[in-house]
Amino acid sequence: MIETIKKRHIESYQKEPLMLKAPSRINIIGEHTDYNLGYSLPAAVKQSLVFALSESEDGDMHLDAVDLNETANFGIRENEYPQGHWTGYFKTMLMELESRGYAVKGINCTFGGDIPIGAGMSSSSALNCGLLFGLNELFDLGLTRREMMFIAQAAEHRFGVKGGLLDQYSILNGKSGHALLLDFKNISHTYVPLEIGEYHFVLFNTCVKHSLVNSPFNQRRNACHRVMDLLAKDDEKIQSFQDFDEATLNRYKDQVDEDDYIKALFVLREDERVLKTVEALKAGDVTALGEYLWQSHAGLRNDYEVSCEELDFLVDHIRDLEGVLGSRMIGGGFGGCTINVIHEDQVQTVWQSLQKAYFDKFGVEAQMVEVEVGEGISLIG
Ligand code: GLA
Repeated sequence: MIETIKKRHIESYQKEPLMLKAPSRINIIGEHTDYNLGYSLPAAVKQSLVFALSESEDGDMHLDAVDLNETANFGIRENEYPQGHWTGYFKTMLMELESRGYAVKGINCTFGGDIPIGAGMSSSSALNCGLLFGLNELFDLGLTRREMMFIAQAAEHRFGVKGGLLDQYSILNGKSGHALLLDFKNISHTYVPLEIGEYHFVLFNTCVKHSLVNSPFNQRRNACHRVMDLLAKDDEKIQSFQDFDEATLNRYKDQVDEDDYIKALFVLREDERVLKTVEALKAGDVTALGEYLWQSHAGLRNDYEVSCEELDFLVDHIRDLEGVLGSRMIGGGFGGCTINVIHEDQVQTVWQSLQKAYFDKFGVEAQMVEVEVGEGISLIG
């Protein structure tokens, strides 16, 4: 993959490129907690987007998306793009850098990799963060990884996805063999060794992505922020979901909308599960880890309401199969993958059973993605 992309870049642009790799991430637990300034436990994985980059001769942008088999050429101040189109990630990044006063010139960029698209595996953040990391190297912008996290997030917000920092943080700071305990209030992290013995983290991809009207992601965010704002009015120390507990929330139960209350309660409990999962990992208690995944899924499905029929099927079907310790949906929801903890001897059996049942039910081929925890963004060679 790396050699193919490099060769293609040299053939197309006659330039020796800067090579880098931006990984995908898994999130073990702590979903929809980032924009509520709680906790998450993600890890970077080996699946990556590989970039070959060089400064262009004519000062324009020349892009080659190998996996999509598409190219694009445009000037660096051109900021129109069809809604949701991949070139938008490049254009919004250039706009974001320009608005912050960074001088960037046109580039040739060849990129491609093995991160499934639309699977909740952060292929778009890998694109965004990888591009920014490359521009920082090529043009000596002097950005730290921490600064890049915020710029990449701001660029994605311009693109229209108002996510938190989960994806950018783990893609930029992942460490082989470790998860990151992320604290979004203090914007800090602690590495947690990810040793689960004979068990494996495996993803199952629904291979569907429901695009829903009314932006449910932003609706969830607004519901949680309404609750936080109400509590903050009485107590200015309350600035995040780390600053109050269930008892405090319950005192306000009559003043908040019933559905907002349910959403906020989910976030508080999910945050607790993140901290308990870290303890379970430290104690080598893989069964408890699995239990927290089931609980997380139940909350995401029934309370936070970001799951879908296909995700629920993947979780429910394997619940009683031998060797399965836990399963839950991963990422924003409404499609994409589940993350599962399965004994290494049973992975194939579980997958065969699931693959068939899923196809029989939905007429869609699911996909198994085996993950290995890897490093954050790095230069290659
Ligand atoms: C999406 C967002 C993330 C995070 C997750 C849910 O992936 O981009 O910031 O909010 O959803 O945990």
